[in-house]
Amino acid sequence: MGNPLFARKPLALLLEEMKGENRLRRVLGPVTLTSLGVGAIIGTGIFILTGVGAHDKAGPALILSFAASGVACIFAALCYAEFASMVPVAGSAYTYAYATLGELFAWIIGWDLVLEYAVGSATVAHGWSAHFQDFLKSFGITFPHAFSTAPFDFNLETGNFLLTGTYFDLPAILITAVITAILVKGIKESASFNAGMVIVKLVIVMFVIAVGAFFVDPKNWQPFAPYGLTGVSFFGHTLFGQTGPNGAPLGMLAGAAIIFFAYIGFDSVSTHAEEARNPRRDVPIGIIASLIICTVLYIAVSAILTGMVRYDQIDINAPVAQAFAVRGMPWAQRLIDVGAVTGITSVLLVMMLSQPRVLLAMARDGMVPESFFGAVHPKFRTPWKSTILTGFFVGSMATFLPLRVLAELTNIGTLLAFVIVCAAVLIMRKTHPNAERPFRAPLVPFVPIAGIVCCLVLMFSLPAENWWRLIIWLAVGFVIYFSYGRRHSIMARLRAEGKATS
Ligand code: ALA
Repeated sequence: MGNPLFARKPLALLLEEMKGENRLRRVLGPVTLTSLGVGAIIGTGIFILTGVGAHDKAGPALILSFAASGVACIFAALCYAEFASMVPVAGSAYTYAYATLGELFAWIIGWDLVLEYAVGSATVAHGWSAHFQDFLKSFGITFPHAFSTAPFDFNLETGNFLLTGTYFDLPAILITAVITAILVKGIKESASFNAGMVIVKLVIVMFVIAVGAFFVDPKNWQPFAPYGLTGVSFFGHTLFGQTGPNGAPLGMLAGAAIIFFAYIGFDSVSTHAEEARNPRRDVPIGIIASLIICTVLYIAVSAILTGMVRYDQIDINAPVAQAFAVRGMPWAQRLIDVGAVTGITSVLLVMMLSQPRVLLAMARDGMVPESFFGAVHPKFRTPWKSTILTGFFVGSMATFLPLRVLAELTNIGTLLAFVIVCAAVLIMRKTHPNAERPFRAPLVPFVPIAGIVCCLVLMFSLPAENWWRLIIWLAVGFVIYFSYGRRHSIMARLRAEGKATS
């Protein structure tokens, strides 16, 4: 018998469990899954982070940053799609890791996905609040300062925290509470609510491209890469490219690492596998279609934005809306604000939908207490207790912690999850060469290896403090695993019954 830390959950057991009771409702088709993907993708990243990306990190080369980040995501998406078709159960990357890399890696990735989904949701709730307040302001309504944002922020120049003079971010708490209530009620209702919002934001993004194209001045694309085409550091030491304030790398790749946030979400389609009508076919379609649609739109929006306004004059807080304001279209600015608030709401909905489903998968495996995280509501058939806990966690983080810290932590956590999924595809092809794969990632081993390399480069292009935050987060996770999950996991139970095989 091997080391229990690396015990793998047998693929056959996973597939057997899918037939059991206490399952979620199978109501989602390919269009709804793609729409959930687009719903999770287009939001804070394109409407807000493009400002920092162009102004501070990449200049007009932000267009290439979006292409580079998109390529990294496509490699990872192909790996996600292969797994989602093989093991179409809720739980996403966590479940894939348990079947391939063993229990410890499964725990690491499950814990890491909290960074992506719950901390990511907190980032998004923050962005929602900022845009909502901007929208109110355009009607002359000023939100009380004391309840407008987190009580402290991070000063990029000095690397220190500073007080903002507020108590907490009230709109962020309110939107989190509303979304939590909708999610407890049910997946079908959530999906229809999402579909409406996805249409609104797609129309607004296409409006930006179609109308903005008339205001592009090609002179704004010169110089194209004022900070260079690289921007990679290693724990605070710049390896390639220029170094910015506080030792952070600058350049096209540093821009790609920041706006990577804009792509997060396509993988959340895989967490809905258990609610898909035909998961083996439709989940890969949902993952890949939503990512390709968004990559094309993002490259177009970044080309328009940097063509409309010189990169060093792009607004950091509401870059896209402001670009139309400075070109004399305040009505368009208001329209884009509506699109941003709507778009960001649907991102929040899908991310907060995904977190409890990962916890549900972990609870079924005994990694976290099943009585709480595994409870499915008798009437709504939703994981209601963990949905409410997720809402509480997201609301607290969003209201008290600064946006920048949350966004970068989300990026590094998600990139680590992508690295592990790409590695898991390579391993699974070796350990289970004959397993049924309704969707096969092409050009293996090139695609998974390229996915690992690209994601690692983006991780090293983030400011160094994110690595330390990630390490602390994982250390806390280890304490929880060794004090609970290791002793209660399904593999520990099978071992106790003498049935474990590895
Ligand atoms: N991709 C999502 C966003 O941009 C997380 O808000």
